[in-house]
Order: sequence, then structure tokens, then C-alpha cells
Amino acid sequence: MSGTLVAVVAAAVVAALVVVVAAVVAAAVSEGGVTCASMARMEPFEKPGRRISLRVAAVTPSATLAVDAKAKALKAAGEDVIGFGAGEPDFPTPEHIVEAAAAACRDSANHRYTPTAGLPELREAIAAKTLRDSGYQVSASQVLVTNGGKQAVEEAFATLLDPGDEVLLPAPYWTTYPEAISLAGGVPVAVPSDESTSFHVTAEALEAACTPKTKVLLFCSPSNPTGAVATPREVEEIARFALERGLWVVTDEIYEHLVYGGRAFTSLPVACPEIANRCVVVNGVAKTYAMTGWRVGWMIGPPDVVDAAANLQSHSTSNVSNVSQRAAIAALTGDLQAVARMREAFDRRRRTIYRMLSECEGVTCVEPEGAFYAFPSVKALMGRRLAGRIVGDTLELADVAIAEARVAVVPGEAFGAPGYLRLSYALGDEAMEEGVRRLAKLFATAE
Ligand SMILES: Cc1ncc(COP(=O)(O)O)c(C=O)c1O
Repeated sequence: MSGTLVAVVAAAVVAALVVVVAAVVAAAVSEGGVTCASMARMEPFEKPGRRISLRVAAVTPSATLAVDAKAKALKAAGEDVIGFGAGEPDFPTPEHIVEAAAAACRDSANHRYTPTAGLPELREAIAAKTLRDSGYQVSASQVLVTNGGKQAVEEAFATLLDPGDEVLLPAPYWTTYPEAISLAGGVPVAVPSDESTSFHVTAEALEAACTPKTKVLLFCSPSNPTGAVATPREVEEIARFALERGLWVVTDEIYEHLVYGGRAFTSLPVACPEIANRCVVVNGVAKTYAMTGWRVGWMIGPPDVVDAAANLQSHSTSNVSNVSQRAAIAALTGDLQAVARMREAFDRRRRTIYRMLSECEGVTCVEPEGAFYAFPSVKALMGRRLAGRIVGDTLELADVAIAEARVAVVPGEAFGAPGYLRLSYALGDEAMEEGVRRLAKLFATAE
């Protein structure tokens, strides 16, 4: 046989063998033998152990968003509910900002991924705005644009904390801080304050809570939830305490433009420039420009921290929506007229809600100095009967308020301060007054 003939015969034998094997396997499968069919009959297999990780299972749902969702659901069902829950301005975003976003949608450059840390023009605009509004000089490379101030808070703690590091957290505190600290492996250490200092935290109280494990101090002025605004002197004292103890400071300046009654906002690294190398500033457009839904915030910090946080963000959300970033550029490079108008409205409501709450049975209220929250004490109502129910804590009181008066308020427990309620006055004047009237009527029935 020639060599070619041998090769052809060998190939034919191999092909025949392949056909036979395939036929045997097909027969086995069609008869319900072995693999596929028996697997289809098996119960779904679940490895023993927990379904949700300990780390995530420990996260408490955002009480403020939960209250808001409850109020919105009742409203959608046709109920006449007044919501004091949401920390968001009731105004629409100013027109020139919306226009900039609409134009950005039509520019295909914005349809692509862009640098994680933010559009260079926005980082420049944030650096310029920071100098304009708080007198803090930073370079654009020290700015990381984030999905809202919330992501900046989360990334700041993730970047700074190792397991077991303690964070001094002045209370009452914004509900997200302890969760962000714990998720990063840190330990939140609440430092209480009350009416006796109008909710101003003092350097002495911080000192008393400081241990060798303390790494970071969280500072928020104007404060959510209390509306307290630290004086320039208080800010400097707190910054110097952090400096002397070798602490980092994460300072949340998101309500910087919302201060009232002749008070002034003080940026912590401006009050104490020496802390700049261990200071992370958190800010955003949400509260100042009525832009909560656009999700643009930022952090400003030393280059190594900002680079590390950007690296982290590159594996999570990458760049913030370019359309929103373009809108933020319009907001930050425009004038502050719309902001002044909104502040005027908030100030008017602040004075009204403070007066009305102070007149309610069982309520005492510290005058809010900034942001758009009132934080009245309702301790005098605890243990009393309201609408046939003994109210043991502010969680129960908030339940009774929505059930009986159709008014949504956030219980103080969400801010580490049982015995208080938080009412956002970023809602229309009429709705706000009607809401407090309803609460007054309900509280007047307390036995
Ligand atoms: C104190 C404080 N910081 C940060 C934020 C985050 O705002 P956003 O993520 O909407 O920019 C909020 C929002 O309620 C806040 O109250």
C-alpha cells in the first residue's frame, strides 16, 4: 500500500470509532443514565454557612431613607402625609445647571468612560470653589469626584482605617457615619453632646473619649441632625486637639452654605492649616444647589490619600456620570444667587419651625443654627399615652405620628440620640406649618 492509502484508511478507522463512542454516550444519556438527567433531579445544593456576610448583615438600614420611603408609599396610596424625613431641598435644581446637563447629553464625549477621579475641569472648579467659599487653597490633583458626599465618606474611612482603629464620632451624628466606619473595619466611638452645649461638641469631651487606638476624628459643622454650627474658635480648638493627638480629621462640609442668624461657616483646615496633611474634606453639590438626585460629591485630601481612594473607586463605580459632572461644573462656576434665595427660604422656615415646636406640649427645642434640620427633645412625652398607646421611645413615637397624624419624622435613635426627633424643614412653608400643627394636636392629647 502506498503511504497515502495507509493514511486514508487510518483516518477512516478513527472517524468510525468516534461515531461509535458518540452513539454509546448519546444512548446512555437518552436512557436517563449518568450525569445530566440525574443532576436535574437533585435538590439545589447549598453549602452550609451564612448566606449574607457578617459584615453586610451588620449594616443597619438608613432610617432617614426608610422614613422617607414610608411617607412616599403612603402618599402614593393617596394618603395626605407630610414628610419631615428627607434631607433634601424641595426646590428644583436651578435652570442654568439643568441646561448644562441637557447640552452635555448631546455631546458624545460624555457618553464614554472618563478618568476615575473626575473630569479635569470639574476638579479645577472644585479647587477654585473651595478657595472662594472657605479660603482653603488646594490643587485639582487633591480632589476626587465621587457619587455624592456619601461615597466620599465611605471611601475616606475605607482608605484611612485598619481593623480596630477607633473613630471619634460626635453624637448626635448623621446615620451613615457609624455604618461607613464599621464597614471599613473601624470602631465608631460616640462622643455625646446635648442641649447644655446646644449640641456643640467640645475638645474636652473628645479628649475624654480618645484612646491609643483612636486614629480619626469625624467633624460635621453645620451638623446633620442637630443644625449646630461650630464657632471659629471651637473649630480651631477641635482641630488643635486632633493635631496634638496625632489624629486624622474627616470633616464634612456639605452644609457649608446653610448657616443663619449672622453665624459663619469655618472650614477646619483653614482654622488650623497645620492639620492639612492629615485632613480629608467631604463636600458635594446636593444640599447647596438642590441637586440630591445628581449624585456628585467629592473629597479633598493629601495626594496619597486621594490617589489611594481613587484607586479603590476605580474598582467600584469608576467615574461619576459625566452628565452630572457637567451639571456640577455649571453649579460651581456659576454665581450663588439661587443658593442665597434658597437659604433665605430655609431661614424663614427655621425660625417658624423653631417657634412652633417650642410651643408644643412635651417638646423643647434648641434653635437650629445651620443646615435644614430641627432636633427637638420629646423626652417629656416618653412613657405617656398617645392615641391609646404608651410611647416608650422615639421609635414608637415616630410610628404613632405617622399612623395617627400622618406626619413622618425620624426618631433620634437613628442618630445615636434616643429621646429626640429630627425634622427636616426643607419642605414647603405651608406643608411644614400644617405638619407641626398636626404634631402639636397629637402631643396635646398626651396623658
Ligand atoms: C452630613 C451629610 N454628609 C453627607 C451627605 C451626603 O450627601 P450626598 O451623598 O447626597 O451628596 C449627607 C446627606 O444627607 C449629609 O447629611
